[in-house]
Amino acid sequence: MLAGKSVLVTGAANGIGQATAVVLARHGAAVVVADIDEENGSKVADSIIADGGKATFVAADVTTESGVKAMIKSAVDTYGSLDCAVNNAGVDGERTRLHDSSDDNWNRVIAVDLTGVRLALKHEVAQMLRQPSRGAIVNMSSAAGLVGVDEGLSAYVAAKHGVIGLTRVTALEYATEGIRVNAVCPGVVRTPMLDRLLQQGIVTEEFARGMHPVGRLAEPSEVAEAIAWLCSDAASFVTGHPLAVDGGMTAR
Ligand SMILES: NC(=O)c1ccc[n+]([C@@H]2O[C@H](COP(=O)([O-])OP(=O)(O)OC[C@H]3O[C@@H](n4cnc5c(N)ncnc54)[C@H](O)[C@@H]3O)[C@@H](O)[C@H]2O)c1
Repeated sequence: MLAGKSVLVTGAANGIGQATAVVLARHGAAVVVADIDEENGSKVADSIIADGGKATFVAADVTTESGVKAMIKSAVDTYGSLDCAVNNAGVDGERTRLHDSSDDNWNRVIAVDLTGVRLALKHEVAQMLRQPSRGAIVNMSSAAGLVGVDEGLSAYVAAKHGVIGLTRVTALEYATEGIRVNAVCPGVVRTPMLDRLLQQGIVTEEFARGMHPVGRLAEPSEVAEAIAWLCSDAASFVTGHPLAVDGGMTAR
């Protein structure tokens, strides 16, 4: 589905990003694994290569413009073009109702989950405009980008709603120039982010399962397959769309 395409995945050292890098490589893409977590990021790239795929790791912090520019330059230097990008890096932050919430949490979550996506989008689009083949971009939102989900997540919910706004306006700005921009909106996915919440007793697995009408959690690969489709030419008439991959959560 993605043979011959070069793909950048941010936050690809763990969780959904890791699964996305692996699934895109299995669909034939040459993958750039980008993350601040150098140890796991290198392991993900190595595992893709061991599996017969093409991958390289680049250390990158998506909250700095210099880091984002270096990340995209590294992708282009390695593979010659940037055909697809998945802006997945994110943090969830504290669980505190608004009147008790901290500015530090707001600033950190917005910096990674919203500003990080904006910086990556800006420089990915700039690169794709330089290529005759242009490209496709998928941004990581959440079911929390479509609805309020649960109390105590104001920074995260605001950032993820913001990602959908950015996705729509960027899709419109480049619609006639061959660049598609979409978002995915997962429900609760079995990743290290969820493990931390379970360990801290913030949610129980039973509660998380019950948020989905299908009655179970998502596996990271189920989100990754939706991303692969949005990256591929099979989705050639799809742009500006926030795709719910949420087991029916937001259909309620
Ligand atoms: N797990 C879920 O239930 C769920 C649901 C909906 C959306 N999401 C979103 O999916 C994305 C991935 O979540 P996950 O559950 O895999 O989380 P995770 O914590 O397992 O992985 C996130 C990855 O992002 C990286 N990262 C964090 N800050 C970064 C930065 N500044 N620059 C580069 N990399 C950075 C981390 O090192 C990590 O590898 C996030 O954007 C998250 O908000 C997760």
